[in-house]
Amino acid sequence: AGIEFGLDAPYAVEYYDRLSSTNDRARELAGDGADGVAVVADEQTGSRGRLDREWVAPSGGVWLSLVIRPDAPPARAPLFTLAAAVAIVDACREAGVNAHIKWPNDVLVGGLGDETDTDTDADSEGRGGRKVAGILTEMEGEADRVSWLIPGIGVNANVDSDLLPADATSLQEVLGEPIDRRRFAATLLERFAALAGTPDRMDRILPAWRERASTIGRRVRVDTSNGPVTGTAVDVEPPGALVIETNDGTRRVHAGDCEHLRD
Ligand code: BTN
Repeated sequence: AGIEFGLDAPYAVEYYDRLSSTNDRARELAGDGADGVAVVADEQTGSRGRLDREWVAPSGGVWLSLVIRPDAPPARAPLFTLAAAVAIVDACREAGVNAHIKWPNDVLVGGLGDETDTDTDADSEGRGGRKVAGILTEMEGEADRVSWLIPGIGVNANVDSDLLPADATSLQEVLGEPIDRRRFAATLLERFAALAGTPDRMDRILPAWRERASTIGRRVRVDTSNGPVTGTAVDVEPPGALVIETNDGTRRVHAGDCEHLRD
């Protein structure tokens, strides 16, 4: 079992030096009926990313999966992922690294300023716009109610960026020094609980997400399972669909890879 992580958080925390995947451990716990447990590992040997991709998770990251049993219909599940993205951005900013969200839930370093040109958004060493965190949410549900939901959160915290893909960076790389991962995880969990912990506050998630996202107003291309959709992203609608004005009218996309295009 995990060891004490010494974290003051609104969830019970299980900490491991190494796991195959925190999402897999979280699924075991969910199967045993757990609710409100965060699984944290320093290193993952078999971690998973979105769209069946590999996710590189060496020692030094914040690899964290949360088991929750929200009183919500499965259709609202994407909102929890958006809440996790908001929580990550706020924890990054508290650690001294500005960050923003690219739809649906990639967290990139850099401000929300002039992102029409990814070069000007980069810092002097070209690190702006690089991905620092991602989320893989897994869920089991019945027709009308989520049974369990696992937001799996990967943050490249104190990771040597040489180990990461070329379009990624780490908080340590941007800051020039390691962050306090306990404090980061505590902030993240507090922010998540504040937004998604009770159903009555969930209408705050989308506005909070919009405030931190760089995708609205941008020209985008989203690769969906039905092919690419290109146009201007005009809004995000509950529970998380991107609304795109295309030459052929308005399209709503629910999942896919989003690329910001130059205007
Ligand atoms: C993405 O592709 O952007 C999502 C990456 C999610 C990675 C995290 S790390 C903690 C959790 N455990 C996993 O195996 N994946 C998620």
